[in-house]
Amino acid sequence: MAITAIIGGQWGDEGKGKIVDLLSKDVSVVARFQGGANAGHTVYVDDQKLVLHQIPSGILREECKCILGGGMVIDPIELVQELKEVSDMGFSLDNIYISNSAHITTPIHRLIDITNEEKSNNKIGTTGRGIGPTYVDKYNRNGIRAYDLLEKKKLIKKLDAQLKNTLDSQTLTQKQLDEIKNKIDEFLKCSDIISKYIQDTFVIMHTENNILIEGAQGTMLDIDHGTYPFVTSSNPSSGGITTGLGVPLNKVNRLVGIFKAYITRVGNGPFPTELEDEDGAKIQNIGKEFGATTGRPRRCGWFDAPLAKYSCKLNGLTDIVLTKLDILDNFNEIQICTKYECDGNISSNLSEFMNNLHRVKPIYKTFKGWMTSTNEIKEFDNLPIEAKEYIKYIEELIETPVSIISTGPKREDIIIR
Ligand code: IMP
Repeated sequence: MAITAIIGGQWGDEGKGKIVDLLSKDVSVVARFQGGANAGHTVYVDDQKLVLHQIPSGILREECKCILGGGMVIDPIELVQELKEVSDMGFSLDNIYISNSAHITTPIHRLIDITNEEKSNNKIGTTGRGIGPTYVDKYNRNGIRAYDLLEKKKLIKKLDAQLKNTLDSQTLTQKQLDEIKNKIDEFLKCSDIISKYIQDTFVIMHTENNILIEGAQGTMLDIDHGTYPFVTSSNPSSGGITTGLGVPLNKVNRLVGIFKAYITRVGNGPFPTELEDEDGAKIQNIGKEFGATTGRPRRCGWFDAPLAKYSCKLNGLTDIVLTKLDILDNFNEIQICTKYECDGNISSNLSEFMNNLHRVKPIYKTFKGWMTSTNEIKEFDNLPIEAKEYIKYIEELIETPVSIISTGPKREDIIIR
């Protein structure tokens, strides 16, 4: 049995979709283990852009089974829309399997997510997709699971209870109430449509021989190990694989971390290497750094090696992929954060600063930029010497090999070492 897992190494949006597409060439299953419609994995098929939110990127490969794992939270309304987009692009929907233990996001969860954010003095900057409230119900042991969609009476009873709980704790206007009731009708229709995909996926995970596991979001958004409370409500780090898919970690042979050649963050929270200057704006423009799910501009910064090193250790990464190297093609100088400084303490261990990340000062090493296009290059040895030095220095700092480098959005813009 060969299992490879792909994990977002930073704050999400590292370009996992393209790498899952690349590494799913020979697998029979692609499985997602956490998160929900908050994710946005952009893939290009013959120049056509497809943004996947809940369906694993393996859908682009014929014969590949796509599992939406039990650790996920599934939004039926969003999923029906996504199924349509995938089908309109000519891909078959026959190989989709939703774990019967996945939790279900309802319109009520979305409403709570949005109103919580509006009311909060410490806004997380969520995607507004109802992710947090769905996981709250899960851990409160009154969530709706996928198998509940197969029993309509039970489902309606659970929805009524959810609405009653919400109305007990917050006042809705008549307009909001009418809207939510309409949305619930749509939710019930969509739940019917997706119910045919609900299965026991455990058995697939334990019988197939060649599996790719697809993470969503990124390590620093992990509810336990990320920049809490500015995190998502699941475990995007490799620890989430075992609970989210029911496979033990010792069955995973390769753990690949995806990192941008710089770093971005969408939403609020600490960001030590954030660039609020011309360089940041330049990365944002050239890198088209706008959220795939919400369209929000992403905050941009230089590569953060302490963060990457933490991510490698936490996830047990065997190798990493550096994406969007080409975005740095036109910089005279490029920086890498090698250490943090806070209150006189200097270290490259992020965990020492976890509660003070908003106060740390990054210590940089400056590199000469290569000032030439890397987009067409297919061999590592053919990269400009400055780019090779940049990559080798990252490897040295994070003590993990860079196995793949992505130099553009298309499938063929790739260097495999
Ligand atoms: P939530 O997951 O919608 O609750 O949002 C919590 C935090 O995670 C916010 O800062 C979001 O911007 C961030 N987030 C959630 N999903 C993604 C993603 O796929 N990429 C990047 N950031 C994300």
